[in-house]
Amino acid sequence: MCGIVGYVGRRNASDVLIDGLKRLEYRGYDSAGLALRTGDGLIILKEVGKVADLERMLEEISPCSTQGIGHTRWATHGGVTQVNAHPHRDGSGKFAIVHNGIVENYMELKEELEREGVEFLSETDTEVVVHLIATSFSQTGDILETLVNLQGRLRGSFALVVIQQDLPDRIYCVRKGSPLVLGSGDGESFCASDVPAFLPYTRKIQYLEEGDIAEISLGGIRVWDENGCPVEKTVFTVDWDVSMTEKSGFSHFMLKEIHEQGMVLRSTLKGRIADGRTAVDQELGWDAEMASKWDKVHLVACGTSYYSALVAERVLEKWTDLEIKVDVASEYRYRHIKCDPSTLAVFVSQSGETADTLAAQRKARADGAHCLAITNVRGSTLAREVHSVMLLKAGPEIGVAATKTFTGQMAALFLVALQLGRLRGTLPSDEEERLISELIHIPYKVELLLERENEVMELAKRYASKSNFLFIGRGISFPIALEGALKLKEISYIHAEAYAAGEMKHGPIALLEPDLPVLAVIPRDGLYEKTLSNIQEAKARNAPLIAVCTEGDTIIPQHVESVIEIPWTDEEFTPFLSVVPLQFLAFHIALLKGREIDQPRNLAKSVTVE
Ligand code: AGP
Repeated sequence: MCGIVGYVGRRNASDVLIDGLKRLEYRGYDSAGLALRTGDGLIILKEVGKVADLERMLEEISPCSTQGIGHTRWATHGGVTQVNAHPHRDGSGKFAIVHNGIVENYMELKEELEREGVEFLSETDTEVVVHLIATSFSQTGDILETLVNLQGRLRGSFALVVIQQDLPDRIYCVRKGSPLVLGSGDGESFCASDVPAFLPYTRKIQYLEEGDIAEISLGGIRVWDENGCPVEKTVFTVDWDVSMTEKSGFSHFMLKEIHEQGMVLRSTLKGRIADGRTAVDQELGWDAEMASKWDKVHLVACGTSYYSALVAERVLEKWTDLEIKVDVASEYRYRHIKCDPSTLAVFVSQSGETADTLAAQRKARADGAHCLAITNVRGSTLAREVHSVMLLKAGPEIGVAATKTFTGQMAALFLVALQLGRLRGTLPSDEEERLISELIHIPYKVELLLERENEVMELAKRYASKSNFLFIGRGISFPIALEGALKLKEISYIHAEAYAAGEMKHGPIALLEPDLPVLAVIPRDGLYEKTLSNIQEAKARNAPLIAVCTEGDTIIPQHVESVIEIPWTDEEFTPFLSVVPLQFLAFHIALLKGREIDQPRNLAKSVTVE
């Protein structure tokens, strides 16, 4: 929910930190701040607003420093104020820290410190931590011992980065519940919440595990576990390059990422289809005997990832004999659903850091389920805690509104469903080959749609002034209606709801009026006639109708005022196509309304708090 960066090296630290914070701004952008070690002590600069505002402050001061920490905030404890912005310092001014996460027991710790005479400036949980560190260090004189002890005092999640004026050329990190990655360069070291922050400087990274403590310095990186024992970390070389974290000529990351979906689909499918059939069993570590032990599948996710799971539910039901259950992680983790070694539990999370999804996975794993992660981040917490992983290979998604990772998730889940059908003998090989032969054409059909952005842009002009929207769909199109409504509301701030089309007459139809556009997702499929009836019901009540329908449909245009056509494909694959115009519609309406599309208000790219 926040972006953290730390740097020790020979470059101008404020340049490196500002650049890194800008690359992490999708994680939170209420306020931003830096702490720099200089010959005159620690300088802290922080302000409400974007990183660019902080950059302007720096231009007036242009501090000389080669070591520092930075933070861009998504407020959890304490309002969006300058005082609550990070970094926070102790009373002596020698310690400064930045924090991502929530310290659940901060109030009792704060009261204890206040009894000891500590005075607080902010309302944050983070300020409690910096005082605890300073107090402990004054007693031990040993920063490692201090940070080991600290973990025993704190409950909750915390990625901490600590700088101390009298500990030159070194910065310390603690990781518990919130992500931190380390980067090693030539005579310089980095730490951050996510890889893009220091990608221009190094692609050699190390992921911190739960409880790890790290020291980054001019000489490199040292890591200890939560007990203070040294640990050796694997050094990965990421296969992303800097250009993937830049807009490459597009006005917004979201628009760039919508247009990358054909490429992403090819990347997700690449190497996972052979001789017209799926080839993911080795990657997943599955075989027929293992698959025969499962009698149910749980699909668990949040937000857009949950909608990709709802799409997958429809094909899993069709291609396998397994009992399928889909739930949002924040509900699943508290329910008394039967979960055991005969359960395949699939967790869908592009970031692999969503707190509710992580907690749900830990519960399912404790219940004995076989856990599979569908994620876009190789070293993410989710990827490292499950039994099997399927990476989307979609490249970094910077826009807060998920687009290309949604498409990648559907492709990955379809491969899993096809593989399960094969392993359990419920999907005939000729049917599998027929489905695969269409699946490999989907990237091309998506790209045909991407070329028709202008049609949707024109449509957006007709509806941008509306205050409410209704999205409807049936069957495998219903999750797409849900996703279309979420995209619209999260970037344009227009209220949008989605309903199973058959539900209209059970209440929502009372909403219909000339100022409430109804968007129907109605490809040519087995439920077409039923959804057409719903369109006619809406039309009879004077609602303005928009339809996403299969190209060449001559019936739908007679009943609606706006049509967005998609190429023909098998019913199962229509979601890959019908979602694209909905992404464009949300984007262009938000653009017309002057919204901060890549960083919508109140949102963050990765919800790492509950
Ligand atoms: C989607 O546009 C939103 N950004 C949000 O709903 C997101 O899908 C959700 O927070 C889940 O994120 P994850 O895939 O990283 O777990």
